[in-house]
Amino acid sequence: MKVNLKNNGYFVCVGYPLEEIGRKLSDKKFGKKVLVLTDKNVSTFYGKKVVQSLKKLGKKEVVLFEINPGEESKTFENTYKIICECFDFKMERIDTVLTLGGGVVSDLGGFVASIYLRGINFVACPTSLLAQVDASVGGKTGVDLPWGKNLVGSFYQPAFVYIDIKTLDTLPEREIKQGIAEVIKHGMIKSKNLIDFLEKFDFEKVKKKYRYIVEENVKIKGEVVEKDEKEKGLREILNFGHTFGHAVEITYLPKYTHGEAVALGMVGETFLSWKLGICKKETLDRLIKILKKYNLPYNVKEVKIRKVLSLMKYDKKVRQGKLRFVFPERIGKVKRGIEVTPGSILKK
Ligand SMILES: NC(=O)c1ccc[n+]([C@@H]2O[C@H](COP(=O)([O-])OP(=O)(O)OC[C@H]3O[C@@H](n4cnc5c(N)ncnc54)[C@H](O)[C@@H]3O)[C@@H](O)[C@H]2O)c1
Ligand SMILES: [Zn+2]
Repeated sequence: MKVNLKNNGYFVCVGYPLEEIGRKLSDKKFGKKVLVLTDKNVSTFYGKKVVQSLKKLGKKEVVLFEINPGEESKTFENTYKIICECFDFKMERIDTVLTLGGGVVSDLGGFVASIYLRGINFVACPTSLLAQVDASVGGKTGVDLPWGKNLVGSFYQPAFVYIDIKTLDTLPEREIKQGIAEVIKHGMIKSKNLIDFLEKFDFEKVKKKYRYIVEENVKIKGEVVEKDEKEKGLREILNFGHTFGHAVEITYLPKYTHGEAVALGMVGETFLSWKLGICKKETLDRLIKILKKYNLPYNVKEVKIRKVLSLMKYDKKVRQGKLRFVFPERIGKVKRGIEVTPGSILKK
């Protein structure tokens, strides 16, 4: 599938075996050297496979760089360490950083690729459901600061994205669920069909439909990014559930995964949407029902709203002290750029 961008469009290859990745990189335009960035979990399953393929089929010199798994690794410190490794490995601009793992690895590795030598080749090989349906498309890269997530970063598109659906077989159940949260988000903003589909199936059946899910989500996200690569307008809709969700995630680290926090964020934002008369109660009820079905958190009473609000003000979308939200109008349709003051949220 192609993501058509003005200058730097690229392919998302869905359903290719990891063992073959070296072949895809065998072209001279990917340089002689590849730094594979992965985390220690993913490395135990797939590190060797990818390195061997790059050496054998791609004829590359390869360095494997492993970080600790988890959001705590998405830091400036690790950015610097990886850059030092690139330098020691004498990587040139034509060489490639390949990320093998979830969204943490692709955000961090993409960021390094975008700033080392002012930008070297970047290939993403997402292995978590969340990264396959969301993080790997759209070119947002970056790291966290103590005050909030993704506060430093860049827009940097990969040369291509390579997805082996089979990697999801080793993904722990909680991680699959958080991927489903982003799938629900895509359904809520743009595809009633996807919501109908998730309602029709259950968790076990959905596992047999990964290919459909990944392709459908890459398509939805790709279409939005094609229209607004740098988030000047429309792309904001992808942040549904995230203004609230990011603040929950950071406030309670490491209690909620990103997807779990987004699930709570979607409920919080849909609740506000209903209270402001933008959507009907029915939309909120349907969202909650589907989150329950996939065993995702939905009870916003679990979070201390004042604490979460105090972190929301660091959100990147804050304008002149007002929080900007994306609110559902109905399933599959949202309204963006709605400004709400923190004080008025407390009253709802
Ligand atoms: N750039 C974007 O557009 C974008 C979009 C959404 C999310 N994100 C970012 O993505 C991150 C969350 O991504 P994530 O949920 O993939 O987190 P993650 O990278 O931490 O991966 C989740 C866990 O799953 C493990 N894992 C991954 N693939 C596996 C596999 N195939 N088998 C076994 N274990 C595996 C990892 O080791 C990790 O423990 C957040 O930092 C979020 O901000 C970015
Ligand atoms: Zn997200």
